[in-house]
Amino acid sequence: MKHLLFIFVIAMMTSCTNTPSAPGDNTEAKIDSLIQLMTLEEKVGMIHASSSFTSGGVERLGIPEIVMSDGPHGVRMEHGRDWVPDTNARDAVTYLPTGICLASTWNKDLGYAFGSVLGSEAKDRGKDMILGPGVNIIRSPLNGRNFEYLSEDPYLVAEMAVGYIKGVQDQGISACVKHFAANNQETERFGVDVIVSERALHEIYLPAFKASVQQAGVNAVMGAYNKVNGQHATHHKFLINEILKNEFGFKGLVVSDWAAVHNTREALLDGTDIEMGTDLTQLPNVNYNAFYLADSALAMIKNGEVDEKVVDEKVRRILRVMFKSNMFGQRSAGAVNTSEHQQTALKVAEEGIVLLKNNDFLPIQPNKYKNILVVGHNAIYKQAMGGGSSQIKALYEVSPLEGIEKLAGADTKVSFAEGYTRTNDMSVDARLAKAAVEAAAEADAVIFVGGWIHNFDMTQWGGTAFDMEGVDKSNIELIYGQKDLINSIAAVNARTTVVIMGGSNVEMKSWMDNVPAIIQAWYPGMEGGTAIAKIIFGLTNPSGKLPMSFANTHLDYPSHAVGEFPGKDLRVEYREGIYIGYRYFDKEAKDVVYPFGYGLSYTSFNFSELKVKKSKDKVVVSCTITNTGSREGAEVAQLYVAPLSPSTDRPVKELKGFEKVMLQPGELKTVELVLNSDAFSFFDETTKKWKFDAGQYELQLGNSSRNILLKEQIRM
Ligand code: GLC
Repeated sequence: MKHLLFIFVIAMMTSCTNTPSAPGDNTEAKIDSLIQLMTLEEKVGMIHASSSFTSGGVERLGIPEIVMSDGPHGVRMEHGRDWVPDTNARDAVTYLPTGICLASTWNKDLGYAFGSVLGSEAKDRGKDMILGPGVNIIRSPLNGRNFEYLSEDPYLVAEMAVGYIKGVQDQGISACVKHFAANNQETERFGVDVIVSERALHEIYLPAFKASVQQAGVNAVMGAYNKVNGQHATHHKFLINEILKNEFGFKGLVVSDWAAVHNTREALLDGTDIEMGTDLTQLPNVNYNAFYLADSALAMIKNGEVDEKVVDEKVRRILRVMFKSNMFGQRSAGAVNTSEHQQTALKVAEEGIVLLKNNDFLPIQPNKYKNILVVGHNAIYKQAMGGGSSQIKALYEVSPLEGIEKLAGADTKVSFAEGYTRTNDMSVDARLAKAAVEAAAEADAVIFVGGWIHNFDMTQWGGTAFDMEGVDKSNIELIYGQKDLINSIAAVNARTTVVIMGGSNVEMKSWMDNVPAIIQAWYPGMEGGTAIAKIIFGLTNPSGKLPMSFANTHLDYPSHAVGEFPGKDLRVEYREGIYIGYRYFDKEAKDVVYPFGYGLSYTSFNFSELKVKKSKDKVVVSCTITNTGSREGAEVAQLYVAPLSPSTDRPVKELKGFEKVMLQPGELKTVELVLNSDAFSFFDETTKKWKFDAGQYELQLGNSSRNILLKEQIRM
């Protein structure tokens, strides 16, 4: 009998085509049939982990485990089934630039290409789900995971996340957008209660998740660790049941962050579909039946406290994702470490690196100088394994020094001085600094590579770690004495370029006037050193634009100005509301060092011919961009909508459209951006609905939030 059943089930499931099931076919009927065949124990076995990175399957019925893997910018190394790294695994992979570098490209096509690499490499490694993208809003420059995320602006986050998710899922692998929701700090992340208004949720913290569901059809959402307005986010009646699954129409599965489930009844009734990582204390002999959605859930169903239909709905969502990601069929082959993937990593780095300052100093023609000194621990440090769960065992990583050595020119001697190094007590190594300054005095030019350094690696949780999961920074001051070192080097060598790496900005005013050129390189991935060098030596024209405002101290940012980062007594209130990032700096008319959307080029562009065409349900805004310089380059047309007669308090302007265009010298292109009613609406707290705000608006086109080049008023 069992044998016949098995054949029936397999026949039924493999009757599906070789491609993921499309909506509207008989998938739901297949799911119904499967659920009817399952015992309660089998169903409960599917809603919690069966190992470190798998959720339970039902072997009797040919239902596989879901195999998951971090992380947002590469497929993580093999952990085996119980967090014991498998040192024999073939798990060195493509290490893509981290999220904030991807967002800095403002190139939606690159978002898709980025996701395609991830999906293909995950497939090659036998994974069904990649745990990314990370889309949490950058609310403070101190958040230790800003490097993994995308932007302070919800529209830019949404646009880049949609491309990424489509890229992953077109490979037949599930993306898992995270962390839902309002997870914007690492301090007390497991228990901090985020008090946030519905308007700020809908206008700032939820749009990327809504777009992931409605525009990208994301298969999975990961519930966050923190609480939101009193309830844990990973089982949250309002956020998951009412907003995500009901209002947004999400039909996929909600997986908890690891150990983010705290209550069986809430997890059953308030939205968790799969519980992961709860019982890590008993490694390596984890008792998966001790999970909240295991024996205790089984008991609640059996004693009638919770209806079995609640579990059926979770299993339905899980099976729906399995069918949609073709887990019962034969997936196409994946690929890993291909040159195409490495070229994508390079391209994202080249287009994500931002030229902040250039007093006619860059690019440096190769062979121009007899000797160039490269200074800084970051010039040699390999970042890939840093950051926490998003760590990557990279097949290789070109350091900035290696990149510069490769491209400086055969007649240019490149030397190196470490200048500063990592120390646990944050001390400055005066000997290193002195040697670097002396070498700089003798060099024709200097390239200083500084900024943040990913924590040492996963083995060093906490302590003096930066840009790492579980730890926030305490300020944005340069670490290990870099500020004084930059000024000392600039004093002896005026031809000094500063390259800043890291997951967000650093204090700049105390040294930026002393150097002719500054580059923001983020964590640019395995080809980051190549990209940095190509930009310095002019092989690449930089086109990155800041996805976050660069202020000079963390205290300037709204979350700190209102005294609510990282909160206290396990409570943080987002009293700044919707006014984060440039929305705040514009409202308060505050200066910043470099504004949201800013980035320089080696060529110049002209914006002209603004045309606005209004129809019943949309406004089409077009303009012409001309490359007026002498070399190819890319520009980002940014469209901001500014309400001139708002019916309630609203931001001075909001990004509602953008397009990146590549142009040869003298070439011109017309960019067309379409606005729908959303662009003229705000979330009304009284009606709990989005409200179209009729009135006068100014449509602003520019290449930075503070460099508006064309504008036109319109009545809506
Ligand atoms: C971590 C992270 C999450 C990651 C998960 C699995 O704590 O918060 O982003 O995907 O656990 O490693």
